[in-house]
Amino acid sequence: MPNIEDRHRNLIKHLALGAGRILLMHYESDLKMEMKGEINPVTIADRDSEDFIIGKIRKMFPTHSILAEETGEEIGKSDWLWVIDPLDGTTNYAHHYPTFCVSIALFYQERPVLGVVYHPLLKEFFYAERGRGAFLNDKPIRVSKVDMLGKAFLSTGFAYDVHETEEDNVDNFRAFLKQSLAIRRGGSAALDLAYTACGRLDGFWEMRLHPWDTAVGILLVEEAGGRVSTFNGSDFNIYNREILASNGLIHEQMIEVLKNRSQIK
Ligand code: IPD
Ligand code: CA
Ligand code: CA
Repeated sequence: MPNIEDRHRNLIKHLALGAGRILLMHYESDLKMEMKGEINPVTIADRDSEDFIIGKIRKMFPTHSILAEETGEEIGKSDWLWVIDPLDGTTNYAHHYPTFCVSIALFYQERPVLGVVYHPLLKEFFYAERGRGAFLNDKPIRVSKVDMLGKAFLSTGFAYDVHETEEDNVDNFRAFLKQSLAIRRGGSAALDLAYTACGRLDGFWEMRLHPWDTAVGILLVEEAGGRVSTFNGSDFNIYNREILASNGLIHEQMIEVLKNRSQIK
């Protein structure tokens, strides 16, 4: 376990609040959603937020590695890695649908040690530190106590290439819809995981995600007492593209539902 110092904590908080201000500033304007590639939306806010975050990290920790969505590939070969989603929920954001956030994690030797998910409109600041807990606006959070899938409030999402891929999550969605209390599709995987950590949701699953979508959320859920795995229950890392996160109590029941349904080939 590395030494997490106040300079790491202070920087990650400063980055999330600063990026949140950038997202709010552009949110007031007439947003244009462009496409990167054929199916992936992006706005000026994604880019400005990412430039701000990377610029500050480079100044303070020039040797650290960085993996950020808009830059794409990992830069550097340090034990320390920053994993950044400068705007999670771009489609929501571009439609002025008020569910989006910035997500920033710090990894050490491939394990998340610090993370922030910040929802600037609601001023909700989710923070986790390995071994020290998970917090919402400085108050400790815990996962829910629901232990029956039939009473569980779940969330999921669908990848941008849902129109083309067979791994479209539709049969999983149908199965959970029939067996749970209700399902939401919030449009921000980072918030889905943060909401699982604080007990608003009892569980979340999704396919075809990217490392920046899950990097903070997995630390939040684990530090809040929940469980994170792949669909078959094996250990999850951010390079896996299917994730199952829950309060732990309904985890095995969710694995059972996912068995023999769509999984990453
Ligand atoms: C997306 C959101 C969404 C999820 C998609 C992600 P983006 O991230 O997290 O909830 O369903 O799979 O790609 O593009 O808004 O950063
Ligand atoms: Ca994302
Ligand atoms: Ca994004």
